[in-house]
Amino acid sequence: MPLAAPIRWHISGSRVPAHRNRNVSLAVATEADAGAIAELRAAVAHALTLMHGEGHWSASGTEKEALREIRTSRVILARVGAEILGTLSLATKKPWAIAPEYFTPVTRALYLRDMAVAPAAQGQGVGRRLLAEAERSARAWPAGAIRLDAYDGAVGAGGFYAQYGFKEVGRVVYRGTPLIYFELLLT
Ligand SMILES: CC(C)(COP(=O)(O)OP(=O)(O)OC[C@H]1O[C@@H](n2cnc3c(N)ncnc32)[C@H](O)[C@@H]1OP(=O)(O)O)[C@@H](O)C(=O)NCCC(=O)NCCS
Repeated sequence: MPLAAPIRWHISGSRVPAHRNRNVSLAVATEADAGAIAELRAAVAHALTLMHGEGHWSASGTEKEALREIRTSRVILARVGAEILGTLSLATKKPWAIAPEYFTPVTRALYLRDMAVAPAAQGQGVGRRLLAEAERSARAWPAGAIRLDAYDGAVGAGGFYAQYGFKEVGRVVYRGTPLIYFELLLT
């Protein structure tokens, strides 16, 4: 399902090498994207494993799982042409690792999952643009909040979500993995 009006950005700025000055568009994934999403997640899992060693982050999921996610949630993609640079998912179903009592009660919460930007495209604003689209999409849903969990520790991206405006609401250890809970209230 394409977005009604495709949103395009021109990546620019001093942090971006000239050859990366390309038009990035955002769209909702279709079933045809499942293979490329699985490949992107595998590349990100591999890069995290090289950097931080084996962990939960080393398992990236299969194409079949990506397909199921596309069917049951809203998977947002950032792309340049046919190339997928980044992805995230918004779902109404609460992930197992999230304990709702830590979060501000809202009528409908969306859970942001599987945020990943291709290793070669990281640090160029793609993640921030995906979050902006997630927020826009959640407001239009409509939803009262976006909730997520991030790994607590060097491998986690908690600082990235905090920079965008997500507030930390709790820290837990779920099945041996330390997590930080974040929420972005939309009301
Ligand atoms: C985390 C991730 C999604 C961020 O996407 P990105 O496109 O690299 O981020 P952006 O370029 O939009 O960065 C926006 C800001 O967040 C900061 N940031 C990026 N990754 C960060 C991290 N892991 N921790 C803290 N801050 C981070 C950037 O420095 C940048 O700040 P600046 O504007 O002051 O320079 C991406 O790096 C990624 O996929 N990493 C590997 C997978 C992962 O960690 N997923 C989340 C698991 S909890």
